[in-house]
Amino acid sequence: MKKLINKTVFITGGLSGIGKACAIEAAKEGANIVIADRERGSNIKAMDEIRVIQRDAVFIECNVAIYEQVKNATEQTINMFGSLDVALNNAGIGGKTGRISDLEERDWLSVINIDLTGVFYCMKQELIQMLKQNSGAIVNISSISGKIGYPKSAHYAAAKHGIIGLTKTAALEYATDGIRVNVICPGFIDTPLLTKLDLGNNPERKKAIIDKHPMNRFGTSEEVANGFIFLPTDDSSFITGAAVDIDGGFLAQ
Ligand SMILES: NC(=O)c1ccc[n+]([C@@H]2O[C@H](COP(=O)([O-])OP(=O)(O)OC[C@H]3O[C@@H](n4cnc5c(N)ncnc54)[C@H](O)[C@@H]3O)[C@@H](O)[C@H]2O)c1
Repeated sequence: MKKLINKTVFITGGLSGIGKACAIEAAKEGANIVIADRERGSNIKAMDEIRVIQRDAVFIECNVAIYEQVKNATEQTINMFGSLDVALNNAGIGGKTGRISDLEERDWLSVINIDLTGVFYCMKQELIQMLKQNSGAIVNISSISGKIGYPKSAHYAAAKHGIIGLTKTAALEYATDGIRVNVICPGFIDTPLLTKLDLGNNPERKKAIIDKHPMNRFGTSEEVANGFIFLPTDDSSFITGAAVDIDGGFLAQ
């Protein structure tokens, strides 16, 4: 039996990579899908792939770093479908790399504004609605960099650590309101974000990263999506505040 029938699933950054794979998985479970993403471009084709599985899938243009846009996207979702039952706060960027002494304020803020403040803006809006419903499930996307340092990406590591703090705090604040909040910490996953590291032209760096994963490979978006889909369904009804590693064993070392 499909597990998200009549549920509305709101996904940020759902036109690409992990977010898109999670949207497809939620669509297979019968959910209404709302994708809030900043970039249409050729990525908008993702909507066709999702609509083949679930007709009730809509796209809303939204930059998660701008509160008014997040407010508008969540309000549109509720106006269209009447509820916001599941949220996947996934939109994120890697940003410019460099040691802390070399990072400019604008480099820092560009990542923090999207990867951390954007998650806060989304959670605030989602929780306002979920409190009215007395039900809901939020899943945030952090990273292995939410649990360990990531040299030359201090902004990214700080944001991803922050997401785990936001998740655990929200889990405690809303534990008796029918709302569960969990976070996924992926290892290196083969997505367009990883492509930006240009590992194809740097085989030594690619091998060094793969070697850090005991399973000796990158993960796939579908493997993250398979883990995601468990968290907003009744199958995980006693799980809240959990930071779930999907990382081929990276953090077990
Ligand atoms: N790929 C990895 O190795 C990896 C590992 C750990 C965590 N993550 C995290 O997973 C999430 C998804 O990453 P991905 O690898 O699928 O990347 P991706 O680049 O394939 O997809 C990211 C999506 O987010 C959207 N986005 C970016 N900034 C946005 C903004 N300001 N507002 C709205 N949408 C925005 C993009 O348009 C894109 O559709 C990110 O939070 C990333 O940090 C990725």
